[in-house]
Amino acid sequence: MARTGSDGSAPTAEKLKLPRTIALVGLMGAGKSCIGRRLAAALELPFVDADKEIEAAAGCSVQDIFTEHGEAAFRAGERRVIARLLDQPTVILATGGGAFMDADTRALIRERAISVWLRADLDLLLRRTGRRNTRPLLKRGDPRQILSDLIEQRHPVYAEADVVVDSVDGPPEMTLARVTESIRSYLENHDAAGQDLSGGRSAAQ
Ligand code: S3P
Repeated sequence: MARTGSDGSAPTAEKLKLPRTIALVGLMGAGKSCIGRRLAAALELPFVDADKEIEAAAGCSVQDIFTEHGEAAFRAGERRVIARLLDQPTVILATGGGAFMDADTRALIRERAISVWLRADLDLLLRRTGRRNTRPLLKRGDPRQILSDLIEQRHPVYAEADVVVDSVDGPPEMTLARVTESIRSYLENHDAAGQDLSGGRSAAQ
């Protein structure tokens, strides 16, 4: 399906040929599922939401896994499910915000996927996560403080992603266009195994 860039430029997304799964990483509210779904539609690839797969495997919601079994059990399930998903043909994969913080999962994503960090600032994350009350981590106290602490802990790790894109406070198509262009630039500068051909990391943002 053809999509037009936010600036009205020619359709771009459908021209991308992905050698590996795209793993979207970033904090809760960064837009991983929203952008992932649109990217998958544009590239005519399946979209997979890791949290939904974890829920299907566990037979209950993420919230219930946290409440009834604890965060450690959720993280173990998350690690297993993402490993399984990365063992399958190319998809657009939205990971939960904590997934890339796990060293094993991060190594697997590095090996088998192209990681895209959707970076967003505190106010945007707070606004977006405020729309749904389904995230157990944000129920542990003041959401602004929690997200601010998570930014401090996690942003340096998310920064290891292959591609970094700022999530825009506007129509999803704007962020989608940035993601598409950034992946295109990454693919131009890396071979199919992810080896850098340009002498530097993908500069696309
Ligand atoms: C989490 C993020 C959530 C979900 C769980 C834990 C995290 O996913 O996996 O509540 O640790 O940041 P989203 O990032 O899709 O909200």
